[in-house]
Amino acid sequence: MIDFTVKVSRTGIEEGVNIIPMYEDGVPQPAITLPENITKLIEKVAGRDFKGKLEEVYSIPTMLDKGPERIVLTGLGRRDELELDSFRRAYGRAAIRLDEAMTESASSPIVSDVFDLGSVSQSIVEGIILSMYRFDRYKSERKEQKLKHVTLLVRDESALGKVEESIEEAGRICRGAYTARDLTNMPSVDCYPEKFAEIVYEVGRKAGFNVRIYRINELERMSMGGIVAVGSGSIHKPVLIELEYDGTGGRDGSPYVIVGKAVTFDSGGISIKPSEKMEEMKYDKAGGAAVVGVLEAVASLKPPIKVVGLIPCVENLPSGTAFRPGDIIKFRNGKTAEIISTDAEGRLILADALSYAVEKNPKAVIDLATLTGACIIALGTHASGLFTNNQELAEKIKKSAERTGERVWQLPLWKQYGEQLKSDVADLKNSGGRPAGAITAALFLSEFVGDKPWVHLDIAGTAYMQEASEQKSYTPRGATGVGVRLIVDYLIHEAQ
Ligand code: BES
Ligand code: MN
Ligand code: ZN
Repeated sequence: MIDFTVKVSRTGIEEGVNIIPMYEDGVPQPAITLPENITKLIEKVAGRDFKGKLEEVYSIPTMLDKGPERIVLTGLGRRDELELDSFRRAYGRAAIRLDEAMTESASSPIVSDVFDLGSVSQSIVEGIILSMYRFDRYKSERKEQKLKHVTLLVRDESALGKVEESIEEAGRICRGAYTARDLTNMPSVDCYPEKFAEIVYEVGRKAGFNVRIYRINELERMSMGGIVAVGSGSIHKPVLIELEYDGTGGRDGSPYVIVGKAVTFDSGGISIKPSEKMEEMKYDKAGGAAVVGVLEAVASLKPPIKVVGLIPCVENLPSGTAFRPGDIIKFRNGKTAEIISTDAEGRLILADALSYAVEKNPKAVIDLATLTGACIIALGTHASGLFTNNQELAEKIKKSAERTGERVWQLPLWKQYGEQLKSDVADLKNSGGRPAGAITAALFLSEFVGDKPWVHLDIAGTAYMQEASEQKSYTPRGATGVGVRLIVDYLIHEAQ
């Protein structure tokens, strides 16, 4: 990845290349006090060539014989609008610029006049690592990453420990986000359910969490009618993957259960999708991929809690063996659904996984799913939809969203919407039609969690960045790994 160190620097400026964070206010100001000669240099461009806007970068050669060789200004935006995410974005953009300019290493003073040193360091490291991500394993010529080393500067020794810890933590979390991005970006030809499971098994072996794979015969025995039905159209059989990390030494049997939709390809099935943009449906495994990233990060951070991951994994294809509209299927908890559209498949596989989750006497159940196009219409790419039966849990996730910049926005689960899911012949219909599509999908899921505290995150709009969508520096086109940092933050705070 990229190597970080922390060092004491009285001046905040070192030899070589220096990244200087800047506020936009009035005349753009360095967000930290610097030696006079450097301030003078910055004043020459501040307000003219460089305004300090968020993600704006400007590079100044110092022309000095010794000392700092280059000052790279990176905009944090206005101080009164500063968020932790500003650091991720500003440093992500600076890292991209330095890498393009073939710079191997750089230093930067940490600004902590608004947020604490630990959170800022963590955000800087996340921004840099995540911005350097590339999915290039299918390219015959790969561009080598030039930027290899960043030194964070603190004013005195007492700060070293805290920053070192944050660097370490950020690295472990980003490893998980990288895994989630990789799995999500993988083309479906190489990442069908059995393969997905194999990869998860390998990640678990290396990271230190247990992986159990339930295959078709077992799924039938376990009455997982949703997973079996959706998986029936593909030559690639469905699986349910169970991941487990226990940091309690077996002392606490009540886990946090994280469930993720992994449809390795969603063609829509017999209710086939239009071909335009259908290639994007390889991203329909992003929820499951996030669960793998969460478990990887958690197994590496080792909080004293128990976490179970559940990933129902299927390929949704039309064929002579596929399930069809009009079919009635029965889930693990005994409820039945009439299939209106085979393209509303996510809720069918999640219904089984959620039923199974609540059997584990969980403290909380959180599911992540690229569930509905309707959620993209409602919130675009800037927030995941949040739905809950437990406001206290929802508030905790919202706090984590603020800290991680993985925004969420709550939508209601009023029971009146449930009218749209009533069926003449079964307990539920699997589609409530177009109005409030994200909400009716969430209401469908709510039928399978009983009274356990539950949050559903619809990540259809946030799991991958399309060509047209506005991008943050640290989420390059393709999979974002959304959910990993959010859920890990939540779990870490639960453990404290
Ligand atoms: N995987 C899709 C949702 C989706 C659409 C994610 C576009 C990302 C981009 C899901 O399985 C689906 O097809 N949902 C349908 C539900 C409808 C048939 C009730 C939808 O949103 O149109
Ligand atoms: Mn679908
Ligand atoms: Zn889908």
